[in-house]
Amino acid sequence: MHTPHTGGTAGENYIDLVASIMERRTRNDRPLAFVHTYGCQGNVADGERISGLLEAMGFGFTQDVNEADLVLYNTCAVREHAEDRVFGNVGALKHLKRRYPDTIICLCGCMVQQEQVAERIRNSFPYVSLVFGTHVIHRLPELLYSYLVRGKRVFELSQEDATIHEDIPVYRDRGIRAWLPVMYGCNNFCTYCIVPYVRGRERSRQPEMIEQEFRGIIDAGYRDVTLLGQNVNSYKSGLSGDKADFAQLIRRLDAIEGDYWLRFMTSHPKDCSIELLDAMADGRHIARHLHLPFQSGSSEILRQMNRRYTREQYLGLIKAARERMPDISLTSDVIVGFPGETEEQFAQTLSLIEEVGFTSLYTFIYSPRPGTPAAEMPDPISREEKADRMNRLLRLQESIAAKRCAASVGQTFRTLVEEAPDEGHLSCRTAGNVIIDVEGSTDLIGCFAQVEVTSARNWTLSGVIR
Ligand code: SAH
Ligand code: SF4
Ligand code: F3S
Repeated sequence: MHTPHTGGTAGENYIDLVASIMERRTRNDRPLAFVHTYGCQGNVADGERISGLLEAMGFGFTQDVNEADLVLYNTCAVREHAEDRVFGNVGALKHLKRRYPDTIICLCGCMVQQEQVAERIRNSFPYVSLVFGTHVIHRLPELLYSYLVRGKRVFELSQEDATIHEDIPVYRDRGIRAWLPVMYGCNNFCTYCIVPYVRGRERSRQPEMIEQEFRGIIDAGYRDVTLLGQNVNSYKSGLSGDKADFAQLIRRLDAIEGDYWLRFMTSHPKDCSIELLDAMADGRHIARHLHLPFQSGSSEILRQMNRRYTREQYLGLIKAARERMPDISLTSDVIVGFPGETEEQFAQTLSLIEEVGFTSLYTFIYSPRPGTPAAEMPDPISREEKADRMNRLLRLQESIAAKRCAASVGQTFRTLVEEAPDEGHLSCRTAGNVIIDVEGSTDLIGCFAQVEVTSARNWTLSGVIR
């Protein structure tokens, strides 16, 4: 089940050519693809376009690699752990390829965009058929065709194409939540981060194209739409090119009628404008949830990270957001153990967490990424020390979340009923991105419901529908 194509002109000729070859080549009733995406929601959105192209080429989808004619891993490079998992999974495909030599194994996404990774695949994984980077997704039909007719491995990792290809079909899983990219790439070069190297420079979609896709998503019945970009606050409509462009974009989408929530990710504190906070506060559909990564509570570490804001500026933004929206839910990303982070600097991270009182945190131990400036910085702190800091941070956040949960007992929230994890139970998500477990029938999935929180156990909430 899926939404209809949003277009279909991307390499139409190759699409038909691949379709007719695959029809003969498959060992199933129809060609089947196994597609797995790692990493951020931006990568998930890319995966939906890759699947859209595969579907146009006649593929159905399977969750079982063993029956797939084509296996595709859409990879992430943000931390070493993410890369290790991919190499492990690709290693395991060797047996599959031996058993079914016709299986087409594809690797794409951020990880393969790094030269040393592409080299390793070239040398150590000869059974990988097609490797393509983050800039050439629209050329998948052509690349696949080339592999099929020549039988030679294809590597296409060029970064020259900065055009946004709007004519790629999108295959979205049916559901309640949808992802909508508004911009690609990143210009910020935080010193620890690989993303600008593997995704290229920032480019924004035209507001008309975003609005058209947004209307399609709402019409298809999705209820919770997240606008995506590495730094949505630097979205440029191409008109004024100022900081308020993203605020104008969300006002424009918020004006569209319908029963839905609108969210966005990620806001970079250096570009988070007061106009954006005002647009959120004025919005009819905009969830009062701000994901604003702070990364570190120490201004000195922030400087070394090249984040271009201080602890005080960050706290100033939080204050401005809360003045406008006292009920706003704040979430964030934080890195523990940046090279040379001292105990005092780490303590500032803890004190910032305490001061803000986040709803939830995405926590990461610093992972050196080859080619980034931070990977060259001296890092005398041991792994054990970093793990210990992480544990302390998690304990603090858990106690904050537990207090917050206890305080919400007796309150009633507007929620979106998302799924039934167990028989008779429903998961309801608040605008603030908190899950409340209620009893109820699956008929309610996809509906908004008023839920009163009746009990809190640590940081899980139970409630009743009012
Ligand atoms: N563009 C977003 C973040 C994208 S990456 C922003 O600037 O906020 C998601 C998160 O991964 C980052 O916020 C950061 O906390 C974490 N991260 C990125 N690179 C990392 C690294 N080398 N080691 C550990 N965590 C990292
Ligand atoms: Fe990475 Fe910084 Fe860009 Fe975010 S803003 S993607 S952390 S370089
Ligand atoms: Fe990973 Fe690439 Fe996203 S590195 S976090 S998949 S932009």
